[in-house]
Amino acid sequence: MPDKNVPVLTIDGPSGSGKGTISRRVADALGWHLLDSGAIYRAVGFAAGMEGVDLSDAEAVTRCAISARIGFRDPKDGRETRVIVNGLDATDEIRTETCGAAASAIAAIPGVRAALFDKQRAFRKAPGLVADGRDMGTVIFPDAHYKVFLTASAEERAKRRHKQLKEKGLGVTLAALLREIQARDARDADRVVAPLRPAADAVLIESTGMSIQQVVAAVLKLAQRG
Ligand code: C5P
Repeated sequence: MPDKNVPVLTIDGPSGSGKGTISRRVADALGWHLLDSGAIYRAVGFAAGMEGVDLSDAEAVTRCAISARIGFRDPKDGRETRVIVNGLDATDEIRTETCGAAASAIAAIPGVRAALFDKQRAFRKAPGLVADGRDMGTVIFPDAHYKVFLTASAEERAKRRHKQLKEKGLGVTLAALLREIQARDARDADRVVAPLRPAADAVLIESTGMSIQQVVAAVLKLAQRG
């Protein structure tokens, strides 16, 4: 059973809002664990792809979410956390736009969300947890001590994603990314189960025009205020 006394800081928001980078830096600064819940949905999308499961077959995808073995490994040399899915290193694969779109599609299936509920809550371990996602503060950790809802305009988010992908040598046009982000926002906000919305008690940070350091400082101030 996850310990209710372990502090949790949730960071929810749309894709490309910088949640990933900010959550990692905040977790490092506090010395807390990190839950990248998007990586879990992406991992299920990857597992479904490997098994040739039709993403519109809710029951088959749910079975896949229940049986998927998803592990996170932190290499000792400080490199990016490796994501292992059913024994395969899927770290790079799950970051592609294809896997992101698959994750967003399967995330609308109630059985998938239910299958991943306990897997996510199990990350709550001392000394604390930073949980990054869409429904961390609303569904998975409604009793979190600190809640942030991080956003930025769709244009700014598309630009950030474009820069990231370019640095990784992946070629995608800015216009295509903007369309993809807008489509994903609409799917995430309109779905029936756990739609993307701020928790009533979340602090809103609109990060358009803010640097990563400024956002990290704002989140840390919140956590350190106690
Ligand atoms: O955050 P990331 O872009 O990696 O998430 C991929 C997809 O997984 C999102 O578009 C969203 O549909 C889904 N997701 C979710 N709930 C979460 C985290 C991610 O529905 N807590």
